[in-house]
Amino acid sequence: MIPTLEWLPTGVNFLDQTKLPLEETYVLATDYKQVATVIRDMIVRGAPAIGVSAAMGMAIGIDRSEATTLEALTAEVATIAQTLAETRPTAVNLFWGIDEIRSLYNTLASQNTPIPEIKSAVVARAQQMYDEDIAACKQLGSNGAALLPQQGTVLTHCNAGALATCGYGTALGVIRAAIEQGHKIDVFADETRPFLQGARLTAWELMKDGIPTTVLCDNMAAHLMGQGRIQAVIVGADRIAANGDTANKIGTYGVSILAKEHNIPFYVAAPWSTIDLATATGKDIPIEQRSAREVTHSNGKQMTPDNVAIENPAFDVTPAKYITAIITERGVLRAPFDQSIRQMALETSQEPAFSTK
Ligand code: MRU
Repeated sequence: MIPTLEWLPTGVNFLDQTKLPLEETYVLATDYKQVATVIRDMIVRGAPAIGVSAAMGMAIGIDRSEATTLEALTAEVATIAQTLAETRPTAVNLFWGIDEIRSLYNTLASQNTPIPEIKSAVVARAQQMYDEDIAACKQLGSNGAALLPQQGTVLTHCNAGALATCGYGTALGVIRAAIEQGHKIDVFADETRPFLQGARLTAWELMKDGIPTTVLCDNMAAHLMGQGRIQAVIVGADRIAANGDTANKIGTYGVSILAKEHNIPFYVAAPWSTIDLATATGKDIPIEQRSAREVTHSNGKQMTPDNVAIENPAFDVTPAKYITAIITERGVLRAPFDQSIRQMALETSQEPAFSTK
C-alpha cells in the first residue's frame, strides 16, 4: 500500500507528491498550520486525501492545543477550521473533513467533556476516517469493476489513485478491482498539464502495481479514440453537484465531450463524501485558480516569454449529460442524476455530504 499520509505520534506524515516520481520523500507536519501548508502546496492532493488530511489537521490542532478551558479551545477550533478551509476551494471533501471533526468537537464540548477526552476522541475519529476512506475506495472499486471492458484500454485523466486517497484509489480503484476480477486492462494516462498528475503520479503508482500504462499528452485522446483504441474513460471527482455536474481536474470536460462523440462510456468514480447536495449545479462550484508559475515553468525552467498573460484554472466542470454513470461506495448512479443522487441519499438514510453554505 502506498503511504499517502499517516498519523504518527510525532505528527501527520505525508508522502511529498511534488517530488514524485523522482524522489520518494516525506514531510512531517507537526501542527495544523503545517498541515494547511501541505494541502495548499499540493504535497498531498486529490479530493479524498485532502478530506482526511483536513480532518487530521483539525485533530492535530485540537490535540496540540494548550487551552485549559473549553471556551478557549472552542475559539481555537474556529481558527483551526478557518485556516484549513482557506487552503483549496474546489474539493468539497476538504470541508467535509473539517466538518466531521468540528461536529464531533461541538457535541463533546456541549456535554462538557473533559479536554483530554475530547483530544483522544478527535484523534481517534480522524484515524477512523482514514480507514473508512480505504474501505470506501475498495467498495466503489468493486461496485464499478463490471462496467469496465473485459479486455481493452481505459483512459484516465489526472490522478484518482492511491495517491489521491488514503489508499487504493477511486478511478484507479475501479481499474484495480476490475483487474483483480480478471479483466485485462491497459491504461492510457493523460499527462495532465500543468501539474502533471497523470505523467508523474498515475504512471508511477500503476507501474508499481505492474498495470500496463502508457502516458499521453493531453491533446492525444481524440486521435486515439478515433482509431478505436480507447474503450472507456474513468476519472475521479472533486465535487459532484446535486444534479450530477462534476468538477474534476482541468481537461476532464474536454475528454468527456470527446468520449460522447466517439460513443465511449465516461465514468466518474468518487466516494459519497464528494457529493455536495448543497451545491445545485456545476455553475455553483468554486474553481481554484493557481499560480501562473505552474504554467510558465516546467521543472524550474521557464517555458514562456517574460510577462505573457496566463490562465491557470485547476478544475473544470463536466456537465452531467456527458457522464454515463457515477460510481460510489453506496452504488452506481445513472441519469437523471438529480433523482438518482437524491434517492440514494434517502435510501441509504445517511446525512448528505457537507454543506458549504
Ligand atoms: O489538484 P489535484 O491534484 O488535487 O486534483 C485532483 C483531481 O482532480 C482528482 O481527479 C480528484 O481529486 C479525484 S481524486 C480521487
